[in-house]
Amino acid sequence: MVAMERSLVLVKPDAVRKGQAAEIISRLEKLGLKIIALKMLRMDRALAERQYSIHRDKPFFDALVAYMTSAPIVAVVFEGEGAVARIRQAVGATDPAKADAGTIRADFGLDVTHNAVHGSDSVATAEEEIWLFFTEGEIF
Ligand code: RTP
Ligand code: MG
Repeated sequence: MVAMERSLVLVKPDAVRKGQAAEIISRLEKLGLKIIALKMLRMDRALAERQYSIHRDKPFFDALVAYMTSAPIVAVVFEGEGAVARIRQAVGATDPAKADAGTIRADFGLDVTHNAVHGSDSVATAEEEIWLFFTEGEIF
């Protein structure tokens, strides 16, 4: 049996700016996943550093934080059976050039930094990330 899971999805600044947020969210909804929380916000430096704290020592960390705080994003919590893996599969590889055809990053990503979307990489990570963006009363 596949467990009910929640996953945090972020439509990143480039995709929001290009007017692709609704289409990206719609693709995930069409997988049968349910939106249980959604907001538009501009991440500040502290939030971006917490969201990507696992990458703190990577050479791309400063560029990643600068990018994620450069313009508004759309944050969504999806719920469904096997949501974490199904979203990661629909999102595709980190580098859009290496992402499978038909994945969100293959269709909307520009390069390894500007890759359109984030999806939580595990159930445990999802539960941590969700609370960076939403309060209990904002999840339905
Ligand atoms: P995400 O966390 O955003 O869903 O992406 P991911 O799991 O596929 O990739 P991850 O390794 O967690 O990297 C997080 C984000 O950092 C940027 N990145 N840049 N320049 C580079 O080599 C590089 N590598 C990663 C990307 O924006 C990536 O989504
Ligand atoms: Mg990641």
